[in-house]
Amino acid sequence: MEEKIRHVAIIMDGNGRWAKKQGLPRTAGHRQGVENVRNIAIAANDLGLEVLTVFAFSTENWKRPEEEVGYLMKLPSVFFKRFLKELMEKNIRITMIGEMEQIPKETAKVLQAAIEDTRGNTGMTLNFAMNYGGRREIVLAAQQYAQDVAAGKAPLQIEEAQFGQYLMTSAFPPLDLLIRTSGEYRISNFLLWDLAYAELMFVDEAWPELTPERFQECLQRFQKRERRFGGLK
Ligand code: FPP
Repeated sequence: MEEKIRHVAIIMDGNGRWAKKQGLPRTAGHRQGVENVRNIAIAANDLGLEVLTVFAFSTENWKRPEEEVGYLMKLPSVFFKRFLKELMEKNIRITMIGEMEQIPKETAKVLQAAIEDTRGNTGMTLNFAMNYGGRREIVLAAQQYAQDVAAGKAPLQIEEAQFGQYLMTSAFPPLDLLIRTSGEYRISNFLLWDLAYAELMFVDEAWPELTPERFQECLQRFQKRERRFGGLK
């Protein structure tokens, strides 16, 4: 039976290497990466996905040179200036996971506006992981849960699914597939909880050169895989 894909996540790796290959500065790779977020999001929406989660900035990315961090923080503004109108037309909703507090005010404002403007849209959700780390997400969930236990609002004995309610991804359907571009075989602290039963796919293309056709091919390959979730079929 064909598996319906609801939620796909992407680690958009290889912008820097792509730029270097073209003799361009790393920032040119990120800039091209922004264009491709649009291309793949439109394709994903047309293919009927419910959620596309993209790793735009990790809690580890703060360690990059200040100039590059500054450039990466301007990308949401570039993206929404260029594409918000089209996203609205396509009925795409914007959401974010990660900690908004440490993000520069201007960037946070742009993100909040896009989330607000698209709140009523009923098509695909394009979910940006910004200042996001998988371990941090679990620590924050544990803190929140501990507070609820201390306040008598939650029992000490709970199931995994109940703990899942404390995670940033709790409102989304389960993650079906993770795609990482640029030939690296790592998870890089992305969606650790959700990845427990997701399928993983690693492609050699750098993020700026991943085409909608190739993306669709990944989805088709996923549909041919048999997911057993630890059981037998
Ligand atoms: C990793 O590639 C990529 C990032 C750290 C940034 C990803 C961000 C985008 C693709 C754009 C985000 C778009 C919006 C709208 C916020 P790398 O530069 O580390 O590649 P390298 O490993 O080749 O150096």
